[in-house]
Amino acid sequence: MTASAPHTPVLLDRVVSLFLDAPAGVVVDATVGAGGHAHAVTQARLERDGTAHLVGLDRDPVALALAEERLAPLRPAATVELVRTRFDALPRVLDDLEVPAVAGILLDLGISSMHIDAAERGFSYRNDGPLDMRMDPDLPTSADDIINRWEPTEIARVLRTYAEERFADRISRAVVAARPITSTAALAEIVRDAIPAAARRTGGHPATRTFQALRIAVNDELGALDAVLPTVIDRLKPGGVAVVLSYHSLEDRRVKRAFAAAATGCICPPQLAVCACGQLPLVEHLVRRPERPSSEEVAANPRATSALLRAVRRLEGPSR
Ligand SMILES: C[S@@+](CC[C@H](N)C(=O)[O-])C[C@H]1O[C@@H](n2cnc3c(N)ncnc32)[C@H](O)[C@@H]1O
Repeated sequence: MTASAPHTPVLLDRVVSLFLDAPAGVVVDATVGAGGHAHAVTQARLERDGTAHLVGLDRDPVALALAEERLAPLRPAATVELVRTRFDALPRVLDDLEVPAVAGILLDLGISSMHIDAAERGFSYRNDGPLDMRMDPDLPTSADDIINRWEPTEIARVLRTYAEERFADRISRAVVAARPITSTAALAEIVRDAIPAAARRTGGHPATRTFQALRIAVNDELGALDAVLPTVIDRLKPGGVAVVLSYHSLEDRRVKRAFAAAATGCICPPQLAVCACGQLPLVEHLVRRPERPSSEEVAANPRATSALLRAVRRLEGPSR
């Protein structure tokens, strides 16, 4: 990350090359963030076609303002539409813009460096701040509500479901006993103290999983992802490319499942001599196994460490 780039885009060259392999038309960056991927992809497509069309979505108004600034110089050669919304509103956004099908869709999931680095957004235990974690500041529930008001069983469920936390019950009991908890650093300390000493010696900071779980719950991250994935496939034009960057297994599992389902043809039992289901594959995989950043990229940008890239191309013909 540099002073001029608030977030370093992950696997940038690979993402650009995948969208250079997509037909002309609109590319949607559904997690436009600071506009790093969107800028590079749009610039490359401008150079290829002499024109380019970008629709950028983000639920965070701060990110959208940064994207606006970053992408403005590409106008008027490129058309750039930025919309503040959750990305599962993609079909409505495209209908409003009268775009039935698109050439590409990018999802670069989770939070950005701007979120982690801004202490007041409350995403980080390293930068002490209030318990917030809302990507969209208008969301009704913050991390503070969960930590200081929810039942311990509900807190434990969040920790188990969204971070596979082994010590969910211990942590939730410690949290409830320590209420009110008002800062990210205080929460991190309570979580660390709640975990058995032996377990604290392995892995990173013991509060990492708790922070991940709270963030996912506050922002309904998996609900939004489950809702958007089928529409991503549906709105691609033939030859159109979808690329998803995930940062943990709960995300990647969903992407893998959705892409595999869309790439599956006939599902009739093998004993049927003639296909009765009529199901045809909608997409082909562009990467067999998820791609990861190189060790050089991770050394330069440690936040890329857990990235997993999957990509598919929409086939000619069938639709559901
Ligand atoms: C990893 S960052 C994207 C960074 C971007 N690719 C870049 O190069 O600057 C993820 C962005 O997606 C946004 N985001 C996450 N989940 C979202 C959702 N469900 N709907 C809309 N935006 C979302 C976050 O606010 C954040 O700005």
